[in-house]
Amino acid sequence: MRLSVIGCGYLGAVHAAAMASIGHDVVGIDVDAGKIATLARGDAPFFEPGLGELLVSGLDSGRLRFSSDFADAGDATIHFIAVGTPQQSESNAADLTYVNSAVDSLLPLLSAGHLVVGKSTVPVGTAAKLAERITATGATLVWNPEFLREGWAVQDTLSPDRIVVGVPDSDGGSAAAETLQNLYHTAAKASTPFIVTDYATSELVKVAANAFLATKISFINAMAEIAEVTGADVTTLADALGHDNRIGRRFLGAGIGFGGGCLPKDIRALAARAEELGRRESVSFLREVDQINLRRRDRVVHLATAALGGVLFKKRIAVLGAAFKPHSDDVRDSPGLDIAVRLHGLGAEVVVTDPAATPNAKRQQPQLTYTTNIDEALRDAELAIIVTEWDEYRHGLTPSHAASLMAQTKVIDGRNCLDPATWRAGGFEYVGMGRP
Ligand code: UGA
Repeated sequence: MRLSVIGCGYLGAVHAAAMASIGHDVVGIDVDAGKIATLARGDAPFFEPGLGELLVSGLDSGRLRFSSDFADAGDATIHFIAVGTPQQSESNAADLTYVNSAVDSLLPLLSAGHLVVGKSTVPVGTAAKLAERITATGATLVWNPEFLREGWAVQDTLSPDRIVVGVPDSDGGSAAAETLQNLYHTAAKASTPFIVTDYATSELVKVAANAFLATKISFINAMAEIAEVTGADVTTLADALGHDNRIGRRFLGAGIGFGGGCLPKDIRALAARAEELGRRESVSFLREVDQINLRRRDRVVHLATAALGGVLFKKRIAVLGAAFKPHSDDVRDSPGLDIAVRLHGLGAEVVVTDPAATPNAKRQQPQLTYTTNIDEALRDAELAIIVTEWDEYRHGLTPSHAASLMAQTKVIDGRNCLDPATWRAGGFEYVGMGRP
């Protein structure tokens, strides 16, 4: 099939490369000419395991192209909208500027039989609004949310755990769903659930999934807050809870909380949309989820201040990590980077290190000192704080090596990813999150 993918960020670039890898003819379109040039060379413009290989094989096969000219999407009959929907600067609602402009640019290219497939995360009600203009051209709009995780994006795109398609009530709806099923045919296993529903449900599935995950993380972080005043251990608590199949252990990792380009803005956008719909109270708990999450950052600043005798001024602190999670170079709403900025603001001499995200972090927070070398970050530090659980820190770092470099043997484990007994036996003052 001939496809265009509008928007070549974390979602669109992976989608374009993945669709080419399963045999489709794909053009990726983005207004950012620099990003397009990088992709067209076969380089991933961001850290995503496996994407580089997929780009190279797609480009070599001739089935994958990139362009910043919308006219190049003219040969395609199926157009994916994969642009970002960030939080508005003045409110908690989602900013639909890029979705609207993608549709505006697509309209002149559409005609009867064409399919527009929305993949961006949008407030419920968006597809119904966009459909009016799209159906006027004879094309059909479906909404097909994406559930990929950064760091696992290639795998999640090629082997999704479910496919959800929101279709219009009109006759074209079931034909469009069938087209999409054929399109994904080789990627999805026969057993992959394929859920055909209405626009509103498909839009809500996506934000509900992220809201649920965010709630699960904040739930365990709320328990960490209780553990901190009772001497309980939140990691043992999470293990014990996780053995209940109805609860499950995943996303019960207590620590400095969630960040990234999705969970924080999606819970805020859902709360803002619910308010517009007169259902503020239905998701008012999401405000608490957000607050619990942000309080974890305060907690680390508090622990760091306590560890350094109440004064941070001129104290050298190594912050290990900057990405919002490992296997990513994304620093959008990164809790770890936020903590580094706060410590810097309190007068500490903060040195940030990250194996992948240092360039992005430097662009976003140029006032901090960066190094890609862990040893350099640790040298003469009076405190190390782990904010991203990269394997390099979990398994690569030993207490004896860290102690040989640091001025004081103190560590705050913001992700509860180190073994407290090992670090204490190695002479460290170890402080975890919600652990005695
Ligand atoms: C999230 C969802 O997991 C994806 O399903 C969704 O498709 C994506 O958003 C999106 O909307 O595009 P992602 O932002 O890549 O994916 O990151 P997650 O793996 O969900 O992690 C989010 C944050 O939660 C990270 O900061 C991570 O460190 C934190 N986290 C995760 C915890 O603090 N504890 C946990 O137990 C798990």
